[in-house]
Amino acid sequence: MNPNNPKPTVVEPIQDTILDGSRFVRACLRRPVDRTPVWFLRQAGRYMQEYRDVRKHHTLVEICKQPEIAAEVTITAAEKLGVDAAIIFADLLLPLEPMGLPFEFMAGEGPHVHHPVRTAEDVLALRTDRTDDLAYVARAIQKVATHFRDRLGIIGFCGAPYTLASYMIEGGGSKNYIFTKQMMYRDTLSWRLLLDKLVKVLEDYCRLQVQAGADVIQIFDSWVGSLSLTDYRDYAFEASKRLVRSVQAMGVPVIYFGVETGGLLSEMASTGADVIGLDWRSPLDEGWKAVGHGTAVQGNLDPITLFAPLEVLEMRVKEILRAANGRPGHIFNLGHGIVPTTPVENVQAVVKMVRDFRLETANG
Ligand code: CP3
Repeated sequence: MNPNNPKPTVVEPIQDTILDGSRFVRACLRRPVDRTPVWFLRQAGRYMQEYRDVRKHHTLVEICKQPEIAAEVTITAAEKLGVDAAIIFADLLLPLEPMGLPFEFMAGEGPHVHHPVRTAEDVLALRTDRTDDLAYVARAIQKVATHFRDRLGIIGFCGAPYTLASYMIEGGGSKNYIFTKQMMYRDTLSWRLLLDKLVKVLEDYCRLQVQAGADVIQIFDSWVGSLSLTDYRDYAFEASKRLVRSVQAMGVPVIYFGVETGGLLSEMASTGADVIGLDWRSPLDEGWKAVGHGTAVQGNLDPITLFAPLEVLEMRVKEILRAANGRPGHIFNLGHGIVPTTPVENVQAVVKMVRDFRLETANG
């Protein structure tokens, strides 16, 4: 509307046809879609021959740092599967390096941070002014965005403050998060400073990604399920909420995902995220009820169902789609990432099942 010529008495309906914006972005915003959009957590990875071929010549971090290769891996996976969104090939831990914490991936063991953050001095020493070093991720996003134009949604991502802090403090994956929780409880000032620093870096990192063409940002709070509801409220929620809100202010929807979050869903939704990622432990309709129907949801097939016979797989896929019941704001996905030995053809079969699903004929 022309601001110099307002029409105060007639509120014009927002022009919104089913073809505006990608199916995936529309679903994030709970707008009607022609069919449920689908993509997969870890859709580019070792289960795919093309990725294994690239990995023969490059380490994981080398792939991430070479925009040409990262873009190729992202595009190949999305095209081979026929999904509705491409998630940029990167890793959660990349921001640790410019903060002053070098790490490496040990074969079969996952990430290893050389000098974990354990003391107040360690937290004080972390840098927050070098996020531009991550511009290689933005360059990869630009290439993917140029390739797909408006055909697919392009997802940028980062870790949530709690999950990244846990990697920085534990030095890698963890079972009981003892060092992390010790800092939370015993040196709360340092814990809060660490989260503040992370929020600053992650905001800058997400801004790079959005400016490069990411349509949506997914925030992975993969390990937040290690917290009780009270600890989530007292020690993690505020930082996540700040990050969610500032990414939304950049003009893109936010997906906020965690694992084993059954008891946290309603609180996670209070961050204001547009979409909550559900793990597979509860039926989708129960998870959505806990989140609230005013928020979109993404999920929630158990990734190991991809090893089941096709008839079983199809029952589980349909169960999820029926539980969503055609309500606007469902994005089909797994409840966590694809594992390395997953048969690719079963992932492709799920895409076809979601594409072919029709609610009215599926109830019989
Ligand atoms: O296709 C995609 O989903 C994009 C790529 C992507 C990777 N990591 C590449 C990767 C994404 C979205 C991530 C996020 C990530 N990284 C998370 C959050 C998602 C989740 O699983 O909850 C986490 C926790 C990490 C940290 C991380 N990176 C771990 C624990 C590991 C080791 C796991 C293992 O199985 O070895 C990685 C390595 C990693 N990041 C791989 C890939 C494809 C493994 C393959 C390799 O070594 O080439």
